[in-house]
Amino acid sequence: MAVFTLTVAIITIIRFASSQQIGRIPEVHPRLTTQTCTKHGCTTQQTSLVLDALSHPIDDIHTNESCETSSGGVNTTICPTVEVCAENCALEGVNYASHGVYTNGDSVTLRQYLNIDGTEEEVSPRVYLLDPSGRDYEILKLLNQEISFTVDVSNLPCGMNGALYLTSMDASGGRSQLNPAGATYGTGYCDAQCNAPAWINGVANLKGLGACCSEMDLWEANSEATQLTPHACNVTGFYECSGAACGSNGVCDKDGCGFNPYGLGDHSFYGPSVTDTIDTKKPFTVVTQFLTSDGTSTGTLSQIRRLYLQNGKVIQNAKVDFDNSTLDSITPAYCEATAATFEAEGGFPQMGKALEMGMVLIFSIWNDPSAFMNWLDSGTAGPCNSTQGNPALIEAENPGTSVTFSNIKWGDIGTTYSGSGSGGWN
Ligand SMILES: *[C@@H]1O[C@H](CO)[C@@H](O)[C@H](O)[C@H]1NC(C)=O
Ligand SMILES: *[C@@H]1O[C@H](CO)[C@@H](O)[C@H](O)[C@H]1NC(C)=O
Ligand SMILES: *[C@@H]1O[C@H](CO)[C@@H](O)[C@H](O)[C@H]1NC(C)=O
Ligand SMILES: *[C@@H]1O[C@H](CO)[C@@H](O)[C@H](O)[C@H]1NC(C)=O
Ligand SMILES: *[C@@H]1O[C@H](CO)[C@@H](O)[C@H](O)[C@H]1NC(C)=O
Repeated sequence: MAVFTLTVAIITIIRFASSQQIGRIPEVHPRLTTQTCTKHGCTTQQTSLVLDALSHPIDDIHTNESCETSSGGVNTTICPTVEVCAENCALEGVNYASHGVYTNGDSVTLRQYLNIDGTEEEVSPRVYLLDPSGRDYEILKLLNQEISFTVDVSNLPCGMNGALYLTSMDASGGRSQLNPAGATYGTGYCDAQCNAPAWINGVANLKGLGACCSEMDLWEANSEATQLTPHACNVTGFYECSGAACGSNGVCDKDGCGFNPYGLGDHSFYGPSVTDTIDTKKPFTVVTQFLTSDGTSTGTLSQIRRLYLQNGKVIQNAKVDFDNSTLDSITPAYCEATAATFEAEGGFPQMGKALEMGMVLIFSIWNDPSAFMNWLDSGTAGPCNSTQGNPALIEAENPGTSVTFSNIKWGDIGTTYSGSGSGGWN
């Protein structure tokens, strides 16, 4: 409690001393403990979460009116220039439970919908891991390292996506004179889709630029299908693009080099049945390793490996047919054969550089009104039909849909998990 009071006091001083960008309502980050591991054991860190800035009200400090229009763009009357905008507008703190984010110790649950005063509302939270200071993002450097987490996908039907991923966001959230709030208020998002948000690094995006950076999707899944996907960008760190440079083969690889067991032919590896190797009705642990060619943290990324644990047993990843042989990890040869855009944007070496520099850990839950998440779980990708992922259907039939991630650990290869059984790496 003493620590919390001190944090609020510091934020208040910063507001009066240097800017008007931080509002009156304090931001209280939900705590989420994480662990870092070496062969000597794991150490618990008091980390916390912050919702993306887009989920925070941003108001004109003179009138309390929103600096955004109803369609989510920047109000150019309040914000004719980025400088005037920064003088007029302030980000306010939020209540995390009313955005569908609940933490307890090392566990976080995210909900897609909330029933607020009898009405179903979409909240679809996206949150970032902050370092123990609560001021900047935690930077995970995962080259020649592994990361593990436990996930409960049992309450994610067809069309939902409970995601845990990394992108090359700036550690401070792009904190600047025009954006003193920074990572403390969840600014600075970027990913390999290069979308054009209303604000970039906390500054009004008046030119409609795209916010691009490399993205490593550790986990995009529901109870029916799962995919592991690196997306390389041929630029380092955060990058603003415009026009064609944001296009389908511009700065970033939007398609990725994905590994989906169902899509690659193994239809009984993952699903809500006791006959599936991973029974998605119960929680399980997911381990992802980023190996290098020379086994050092400065080498070239050479393989992205995966294994699972469930009921205390280590379970090898699905082994699928590929190139007259079998494949259970993402390799350069697999991406060369299947992911032309990933290769064009730098492929494994470029993804490795992003992992080496360090990335920010992101948790989200979302669904997809335009394509119903068919790429993840329908057609050749999974057992869902092409319309089951319609958000209107999900909201009507599963308004309580949620995902829970817990027990997040990263560190040296082989140090973040233990289990029994004959499963394991090849
Ligand atoms: C804006 O909100 C604050 C806090 O609720 C209040 O004190 C202030 O009077 C409001 N200003 C206007 C112009 O409504
Ligand atoms: C923009 O803000 C002005 C001043 O508060 C307001 O009058 C106007 O309706 C807003 N425009 C939009 C599109 O929200
Ligand atoms: C890489 O990035 C540049 C922009 O910096 C872009 O013009 C180019 O097309 C990108 N793609 C490749 C494959 O080099
Ligand atoms: C796979 O086997 C086929 C048929 O034997 C052969 O034509 C092809 O070259 C092989 N591919 C690779 C990558 O070895
Ligand atoms: C898809 O599944 C839903 C829910 O089970 C069902 O209502 C719908 O008729 C199915 N659609 C098609 C095209 O099979």
